[in-house]
Amino acid sequence: MSNLKVAIQKSGRLSEDSLKLFEECGIKFNNGAKKLKAHSHNFPIEFLFLRDDDIPGYVEDGIADIGIVGQNVQDEYQKEVEVIKYLGFSKCRLSLAVPREEEYKDVTYFEGKNIATSYPNILKAFLDEKGVSAEIHTISGSVEIAPGIGLAEGICDIVSSGSTLMSNGLKEVDTVMKSEAVMVANKELTSEKQKIVDQLIFRINAVLEGKNNKYVLLNAPNDSLDTIISLLPGMRSPTVLPLAQDGWSSIHSVINEDDFWGNIEKLREAGAEGILVVPIEKMIK
Ligand code: PRP
Ligand code: ZN
Repeated sequence: MSNLKVAIQKSGRLSEDSLKLFEECGIKFNNGAKKLKAHSHNFPIEFLFLRDDDIPGYVEDGIADIGIVGQNVQDEYQKEVEVIKYLGFSKCRLSLAVPREEEYKDVTYFEGKNIATSYPNILKAFLDEKGVSAEIHTISGSVEIAPGIGLAEGICDIVSSGSTLMSNGLKEVDTVMKSEAVMVANKELTSEKQKIVDQLIFRINAVLEGKNNKYVLLNAPNDSLDTIISLLPGMRSPTVLPLAQDGWSSIHSVINEDDFWGNIEKLREAGAEGILVVPIEKMIK
């Protein structure tokens, strides 16, 4: 059986989280530093460590079968690949920024000005939509220094914590797009490789579902069971176990973390106590 070739960012914002995802999926591999490739002994997969900007192209050409990239990179290069999964990590935004001391009202600020970016296509589409005409200077890295050296009045670049902007005396003024890691796939995978992708996506879904949900255990008087069950519907329905103390039960359920915090007051009003919230490693519905 041939291995599925997976392109991962060699180093940078995506690389650590990408590898962690495969680990969480139970896929074991040796990740020696500075290696070009790695393969797994317990899943038919092989990793290629590449520059993120090159990944969509390698997947389009079939050098890699699938890859993990930022949605921003995928949108910029417009390669003929399939986005098969939004992964929810490495969240960031592509934003416009100007020197801190500048007065900025709206995007018309950039009319007739120069903007440095590594994302000319996305930026152009954004400016066109806003009806702003600006000069776009495409540079491949260290975009944040452009205003300081007089290359441009503003920049359009990836912002995550904001510390790169801050330490270069810039402020974020408009969001062009929000981005997160996505999995892309070649459009003509063999059925054998498609099968491996399906198995992988099944595991990824179980990991992502697990992260979004919590296992909840609580004690409640029996006369409030109906109320509590309606607040904690669980996967099929919650487990209800009698406590040693008469008239009380222990209720176990699974709930989306956001719903849990939304319902916590109602649960307590209904008499719930001894509430435990436990992380879920994997969840298969
Ligand atoms: C982006 C961007 C900044 C940094 C911003 O680079 O170009 O350098 O991240 O992050 P911060 O707001 O947390 O400081 P990226 O990770 O895309 O690296 P690359 O340009 O080498 O691909
Ligand atoms: Zn990059």
